[in-house]
Amino acid sequence: MTQKLGILGWPARHSLSPKIHRFWFREHAIEATYEIMETPEDALAIELVGIRSGAFRGVNVTVPHKEKALTLVDEADDVARRIGAVNTILVKEEGKLFGSNTDAFGFSESLKQSGCDLADVAARPVILGAGGAARAVVAALADAGAKDILVLNRTRARSEALAAEWPIVRAGNWEDRDKALEGATLLINTTSLGMERKDPLEISLGALPKDAWVTDVVYVPLETALLKAAKKRGNRTVDGLGMLLHQAQASFRLWFGITPKVTDELRAHILAA
Ligand code: ATR
Repeated sequence: MTQKLGILGWPARHSLSPKIHRFWFREHAIEATYEIMETPEDALAIELVGIRSGAFRGVNVTVPHKEKALTLVDEADDVARRIGAVNTILVKEEGKLFGSNTDAFGFSESLKQSGCDLADVAARPVILGAGGAARAVVAALADAGAKDILVLNRTRARSEALAAEWPIVRAGNWEDRDKALEGATLLINTTSLGMERKDPLEISLGALPKDAWVTDVVYVPLETALLKAAKKRGNRTVDGLGMLLHQAQASFRLWFGITPKVTDELRAHILAA
């Protein structure tokens, strides 16, 4: 029987996840479908009822549903609970929903594949943003031994909430972001700023040490203005596509017990319109 998979989000129509997973279905000769399931804010619970029954193997969950999904699954693993959000659901026997979160793995694996071991840059990371992606990055950095993570967010209450939850997080002022880069070992943009059709990320990298790494969760465009500016002054950079592909890799592994490969061929396939 064909196994069904999909992604629940709102809006989700531009999601690249179907393309990634279908590529791997072909590669591994798995008979499965992966569809975008546009799910408005208040429709997650009802959508999950449908997923419990029928032929679903699992789903991905994206904005704005990741936090809510944690409260709706029957069981969640440690990483999902620590992050406070679920991005991958596996349908177990009798329609039981098992929630996990592969975003932290996606982040650390993407950096690793680019030659950046998180443990080597965990001394003083600076995170821009305090949403779901930032929470996953904090979890990954915690696992890599970070003890002092600075989180700057436009809405200060959100960075303070993160700091209240994680003793290793300090909240700073969004307005002070240029100066906050002094002594930083790693700069991560988890905001949507710099994304196509969104506002630009205004930041001056002048104070950032030249040996710091810079990464962006935004992948449209692949080379954001932040990454371009960082590269120009000699910082090493990692684009946001790697995190997307590696979180998908871990989701696929949860569903099928197979670790699919993230290759240049896959990257090229995803980047081709
Ligand atoms: P995700 O789960 O993908 O991280 P999110 O929870 O919507 O998405 O978070 C988006 C991040 O981008 C937030 O940190 C948000 O800041 P606020 O908490 O203040 O909303 C940040 N962001 C979005 N637009 C922004 C803007 N114009 N200026 C500064 N930060 C912005």
